[in-house]
Amino acid sequence: MSSQIDHLLDESRHFPPSAEFAAQAVAQPALYEHAAADREGFWADQSRELLHWHTPFTQVLDWSTPPFAKWFDDGEINVAYNCLDRHVEAGNGDRVALFFEGEPGDQRRITYAELTDEVKRVANVLTEMGVGQGDRVAIYLPMIPEAVASMLAVARIGAIHSVVFGGFSADSLRSRIDDAGAKVVITADGGFRKGRVSPLKPAVDQALADRGDGEQKTVEHVLVVRRTENEVEWAEGRDVWWHDVVPAASAEHTAEAFPAENPLFILYTSGTTGKPKGILHTSGGYLTQAAYTHKNVFDLKPETDVFWCTADIGWITGHSYVTYGPLANGATQVLFEGTPDSPHPGRWWELIERYGVTIFYTAPTAIRSFMKIGRSVPQQFDLSSLRLLGSVGEPINPEAWMWYREVIGGDKTPIVDTWWQTETGAIMVSPLPGVTSTKPGSAQVALPGISIDVVDESGTPIRDESGGLLVVTEPWPSMLRGIWGDPERFKETYWEKFEAQGYYFAGDGARHDEDGDLWLLGRVDDVMNVSGHRLSTAEIESSLVAHEATAEAAVVGASDETTGQAVVAFVILKESYLAEHTPEGLAQQLRLWVGEQIGPIARPRDVYIVGELPKTRSGKIMRRLLRDVAEGREVGDTTTLADTAVMSIISAQVK
Ligand code: PRX
Repeated sequence: MSSQIDHLLDESRHFPPSAEFAAQAVAQPALYEHAAADREGFWADQSRELLHWHTPFTQVLDWSTPPFAKWFDDGEINVAYNCLDRHVEAGNGDRVALFFEGEPGDQRRITYAELTDEVKRVANVLTEMGVGQGDRVAIYLPMIPEAVASMLAVARIGAIHSVVFGGFSADSLRSRIDDAGAKVVITADGGFRKGRVSPLKPAVDQALADRGDGEQKTVEHVLVVRRTENEVEWAEGRDVWWHDVVPAASAEHTAEAFPAENPLFILYTSGTTGKPKGILHTSGGYLTQAAYTHKNVFDLKPETDVFWCTADIGWITGHSYVTYGPLANGATQVLFEGTPDSPHPGRWWELIERYGVTIFYTAPTAIRSFMKIGRSVPQQFDLSSLRLLGSVGEPINPEAWMWYREVIGGDKTPIVDTWWQTETGAIMVSPLPGVTSTKPGSAQVALPGISIDVVDESGTPIRDESGGLLVVTEPWPSMLRGIWGDPERFKETYWEKFEAQGYYFAGDGARHDEDGDLWLLGRVDDVMNVSGHRLSTAEIESSLVAHEATAEAAVVGASDETTGQAVVAFVILKESYLAEHTPEGLAQQLRLWVGEQIGPIARPRDVYIVGELPKTRSGKIMRRLLRDVAEGREVGDTTTLADTAVMSIISAQVK
């Protein structure tokens, strides 16, 4: 039915804001005018209005040494004070900050006053452990209130957090701890997932185990939250229980002012090479744009709304729209530990009903998996509290957009499709609810204050509807300030391509339609997007070749109905292994291997054992041809292959 509608109406469907919504909307068309007239003045006004500056800034943007930007450079701020104390001081201490619901159904209601106290205690504990301004703290926790409190406590003392998604393996955790040189790790015994305990502490122990290579070990303490009560090993002197030290610590702690450009966090993300990049964000500019977008894109009324962003804090979406944006704005939100379908397929909708969620922000992959189950599940719940829906992480296909609006949004809620990245720190492209007339599948327009364009390879703007590369043409407050420890890679990856123009290269393809609205067309590099998670082909390939059975491997992202893209691997095995094992058995072993090496999200959907890989005469693997095979298409032009027969052999082997 929905797909028929798709075809019949094509993409000319428009959903103008209702008069009712527009009348109460936070965002106003004047924002565009103000930003267009004086971009820097606009950001300065936003920052002053939304945040408390301990020392007001007098400079807005310093772009004298591109691509290294400084925003509000002579101002001083405390990020945690902005997310906590000032709301309590303003008389809103009793407002609920977090409605926490654990996977097993346990519930906690945490007010701003309580969260502020907890963060002060944790800040005191960290200080006691010797953590100070600029030190790195790794956070490897499930989605529990302590995760949010830990991030804010690190921020409060001017230190830098590096949150590592709890689904990452010990190896991934180790490389992130090493790269950042973390002094403390905050973890838990485990988290709950689909009715079972999923241990975390063993991965930390493994990550910190002596590797006998003389490498310097930086971690002095591990602070452990007791969540699941599974048995854990204990390193005396290093490991400390949260419940032993946090409640006993003083709840007196004065937030010190730090420079606007004090680093706030490092967040690792996949790039085009095997090694994840530590994306660095700083304080004043980041918090300005996180708060500004959270308020205007989500039409936030902090007194009455209940916001829920389903992202894990291990991703940028969780940083900006679970921790920093909502708390800076004094919002009330839901924090959920579990998965959408456990113990029953209506778990999310049950939470929306229970907490009266008004604003809901999730990923297209989740929406598509709900579509598969059918509308009868959400229809069993009262979703009438919802008044705004958001989407993030990958392009949302018009069919999913329509389903989201009709079935979840009761055919009335505006949808904001938000384009942004770990690197951009906050939303860049999105409709403004109450202002923009929306269109299924299009992320539409750059936010006021943001300058986006679509250009060709030479940096020339494309004015017609043909596709090109998405660029950001002016610096923005929450832009990444670098890659941790690797300024060269920062320049190369994002700035070299359009050095002459000074544009930021996002790595995404895009086009403008006849109305000038933006359509995102997916990555143009070797980065895959699986269920809204970024994965690098190179990283998975190097994990595959690290297995003793593998001689060579090539990985592609093939389109997948539910997950957007899926990881498909083509592997050449060593002769000796083939003699002793079945290809099916080895394929399965390799899938599990990648899961262990990187994390379950990176596990290939398919592993094909092949005899050869398609290569050009210079030895470069032609992934485009492998993608054709993986997606079941006719194989494209093979004339540049060293051996043109190779593709027919591979196609036959895959069948
Ligand atoms: O390809 C774009 C896609 O996700 C990439 C960024 O991934 P990550 O840094 O993990 O951040 C995800 C959450 C912000 C982008 O380069 N992407 C993100 N949002 C959208 C999107 N593609 C299309 N439409 C979106 N709304």
